[in-house]
Amino acid sequence: MSAPVIARTRAELAVARTKLDGSIGVVMTMGALHEGHDVLIRAARARAEHVLVTIFVNPLQFGPNEDFDRYPRTFEADVARCESLGVDVVFAPSVDEMYPGGAPQVRVNPGVRGEILEGASRPGFFHGVLTVVMKLLQLTRPDFTFFGEKDYQQLALVRQMASDLEVPVEVVGVPTDRDPDGLARSSRNRYLSPAGREAALALSRSLRAGADAAAAGGGPEATLAAATEAFTGTADAAAEPVELDYLVLTAPNLGDAPRTGPARLIVAAWIGRDTAAGVPGTRLIDNGPVSLA
Ligand code: PAF
Repeated sequence: MSAPVIARTRAELAVARTKLDGSIGVVMTMGALHEGHDVLIRAARARAEHVLVTIFVNPLQFGPNEDFDRYPRTFEADVARCESLGVDVVFAPSVDEMYPGGAPQVRVNPGVRGEILEGASRPGFFHGVLTVVMKLLQLTRPDFTFFGEKDYQQLALVRQMASDLEVPVEVVGVPTDRDPDGLARSSRNRYLSPAGREAALALSRSLRAGADAAAAGGGPEATLAAATEAFTGTADAAAEPVELDYLVLTAPNLGDAPRTGPARLIVAAWIGRDTAAGVPGTRLIDNGPVSLA
C-alpha cells in the first residue's frame, strides 16, 4: 500500500480532496488508532472508492476535569496503520486550524437525546462532538461517514443531525469490535492496569447477561435486573474500584424501552476511580442489542 497523503491544513485537504476521483468514505477519529478503528476503515473501503481518515483530538468535547491533555496521541503509528489499511488521505489539523477564531460561538445543539446518558454525565459533550463532526463533514464532503456502534448515543445523534439538518451524507453504523473476552475496543483501554482491564469486563458481562435474560423470555425488568446483577458481581470481585454511572434499557432510538421487540442496553462506568485519593478513573462505555420476547 502507498502512504496516505497527510493534510494538515484545510487548503492541503482541499487539494488532496480534488485529486480523489470517485466516492469518498470518511472515518472520523481522535487518533490512538486500534483494531476497532481498523474495522471502521475496512467498512469504509468496502463501500467507497476512497477513504479519508480524520485525526483530531477535539477540545470542545472534553470537560474541564477530563482527559484532554493526557488523551493518547500516537500520530506516527496512526499513519502507519492507515497506510497498511489503504487509506488515501489523513486529515490531521491543529486546534488553531480547526478553530481559527477560537472556540466557535455557534454550536450544534444535540436536542433532548443529547442531554441524557453521556450528555447528562458530561455536560456540553455532544454539542462539542456534533459541532466538530459537522465541521469535518463540511471540510471533507464525503458520500459516506462511518461511526462505531460502541458510541451508540453519538451514532444516533450524528444520524439525527444529518437528517434534521439535511446534511448530504449517508451515516453508516458499524458493529462494535471486541477483544476475545468481550471488552469493547477503545482508545481509553490503554489507560487500564491489568487489574483494571479485568474489572472492565463488568460492562460487557452485564450486556451479555441482559441479552441472555431477554432471549430466555424475561421482560424489560428481568433483563435489566440480570444485567445489573452481572455488573455488580464482576465489580464486587474486582481488584480495582468500579463505579457504575448508568446501566439502562432503552428503545433503539434511545427513547423509552419497549415491552417487546428490539431494545438497547447501555452502560457507562469508571474503572479504577479512587475518589478518596482524588485519582480520576477511566470512563468506559458499552452497549448491545437485546430482543424482548
Ligand atoms: O468518536 C470519536 O472519536 C469522536 O467523538 C469524534 C467522532 C472523532 C469527534 O471528535
